[in-house]
Amino acid sequence: MNILRRRGWELPERLVTPEHVFLNRRAFLAAGTGIAALAVAGRARAETDPSASLYPASVNPAFKDAGRDVTPFEINSTYNNYYEFNTSKRIYEQAEALPIRPWSVVIDGEVEKPVTIAIDDLLKRMTLEERVYRHRCVEAWSMVVPWTGFALSEFVSLAKPLASAKFVRFETFNLPDVAAGQKPGLFSSMPWPYVEGVTIAEAGNELPFMVTGAYGKPLPKSMGAPLRLHLPWKYGFKSIKGIVRVSFTSERPIGFWEQLQASEYGFWANVNPEVAHPRWSQASERVLGTDEQIPTQLFNGYGEYVAALYAGMEKEPLYM
Ligand code: MTE
Repeated sequence: MNILRRRGWELPERLVTPEHVFLNRRAFLAAGTGIAALAVAGRARAETDPSASLYPASVNPAFKDAGRDVTPFEINSTYNNYYEFNTSKRIYEQAEALPIRPWSVVIDGEVEKPVTIAIDDLLKRMTLEERVYRHRCVEAWSMVVPWTGFALSEFVSLAKPLASAKFVRFETFNLPDVAAGQKPGLFSSMPWPYVEGVTIAEAGNELPFMVTGAYGKPLPKSMGAPLRLHLPWKYGFKSIKGIVRVSFTSERPIGFWEQLQASEYGFWANVNPEVAHPRWSQASERVLGTDEQIPTQLFNGYGEYVAALYAGMEKEPLYM
């Protein structure tokens, strides 16, 4: 992600490893210790994760194929945006410090009865399935991921929102002792914790997916374990990771990026190739792990599922 005003903590562009160098370096490391170490860490995670036996889940036939090759696990799990750890894409080692058991999720706000539920109890109550989704980052790169999780709509039914609930607000952990990006002083201009939100109508749609696994295993920490959201028709910043609280509200939540730079990152953030980001085009996207640059599609190609949600809302800034 990219913000307009450079603050003290921001690295000048020239100091950031260019991505092709990083990816080539990854290819180099793949033959050596880096990826081997990651593979060992990944294996240890899968073995010790109490939910490991739930994977792989059965594939939802409606989402078994995203029309493009699945992005290799090694790329997906080592090229991440997770500002809690740091502002580079290479956070997978730091993210391993995040304790993901015990882990509970608070459900509160405009609901019949606020509750706190342990992640493994939540997993037992939800119907796990696999869905292959395209993911389009606002930075104009994309990937394809075989997620495992459950429909957000099923989670909403569990939460039993009141009629006054118009929005669902998601919040990430705030643990400055393990997530260096949250330490006071370092990125102190950032409005922790990371927050995102959708309307109650969006939450009831078929597509929004609460993700607990990927590639047939529990989710790697770098990708948002133990619980993240994935909204395939919206820019990736809406797909919040490391969720600890889900609140049902009558007021529209203001997301992390909207708080930082409202003129560039809005509430709706639906993918649209014809509406440029104020500082770059959104017409095409770079496919991670390949040399391909492909045209971006309206709603990231998911219009048949979601376009109706926005009927009559032409005056809203739906595409930023
Ligand atoms: N969630 C939290 N808590 N913190 C973040 O920095 N980054 C977002 C989103 N969710 C982010 C987050 C952005 S900008 C993107 S593109 C996706 O996570 C990236 O998901 P990935 O790392 O699994 O590819």
